[in-house]
Amino acid sequence: MKTKLTRRLAVLCSLIPAADTLADVGCDHGYCTLYALEKGLCRKAYISDISALSLHKAEKLLSRYMAEGKAESVCCAGLEKIPPSVGAVIIAGMGGEEILSILREGFLPPKLLLQPMQNTPKVRAFLLENGYAIERDFTFRDGKYYDVIYAEKGGAARKYDARSLEFGYDNLHFPSEDFMRKVEEDIAKCRARLERAGKSVPAVEERLRALTEIRNENTRDI
Ligand SMILES: C[S@@+](CC[C@H](N)C(=O)[O-])C[C@H]1O[C@@H](n2cnc3c(N)ncnc32)[C@H](O)[C@@H]1O
Repeated sequence: MKTKLTRRLAVLCSLIPAADTLADVGCDHGYCTLYALEKGLCRKAYISDISALSLHKAEKLLSRYMAEGKAESVCCAGLEKIPPSVGAVIIAGMGGEEILSILREGFLPPKLLLQPMQNTPKVRAFLLENGYAIERDFTFRDGKYYDVIYAEKGGAARKYDARSLEFGYDNLHFPSEDFMRKVEEDIAKCRARLERAGKSVPAVEERLRALTEIRNENTRDI
């Protein structure tokens, strides 16, 4: 791949699983699919986007693979025109609610790589309720902070409690520098909100308490 990937895309690409067929839903530029095809992670990939203009960018990037029949483009909402037999689906850079409606209205593939922009706890809960084992679930920084989740149907499940659902399993069990930096920033944001409010705001106080607990757990031995 000639283009240097942003850190966000590099992290996403590093988590793309091997599968016979792959679908990149809301592919836009198509970099994830290019990576998967170049690395031989799939035999065939479907690129899809609700916007014909966005899809056109991916069609251009992947023209060689499209000509070989290794990539096929479909302009559609969510999974509408994706064969339900695909082994893995990537949905990245969309809101969590949007991702969930795509999955609810479509189908649940064996492997899912998701990068929700908001509402990640709802995405985690949905996956666990629907028989997925969440195998990777962490926050990383590329200018902004991003959450990424990789889940497989029927894999070896890790035990999620309420805190893991809220903050992400890997973040709590194997905290990264990026995650701890976000914890510090979120603590400062909560304090500023409470100061501005000048009164008790229970939801913010509870979040501040949970964040402080995570910080204390990870600074205890320093
Ligand atoms: C912010 S871009 C993310 C592109 C790429 N997945 C990434 O992570 O870099 C979101 C893309 O999703 C597409 N999109 C939004 N809602 C969609 C839906 N319901 N079905 C398919 N594509 C959708 C948009 O047109 C846009 O190209």
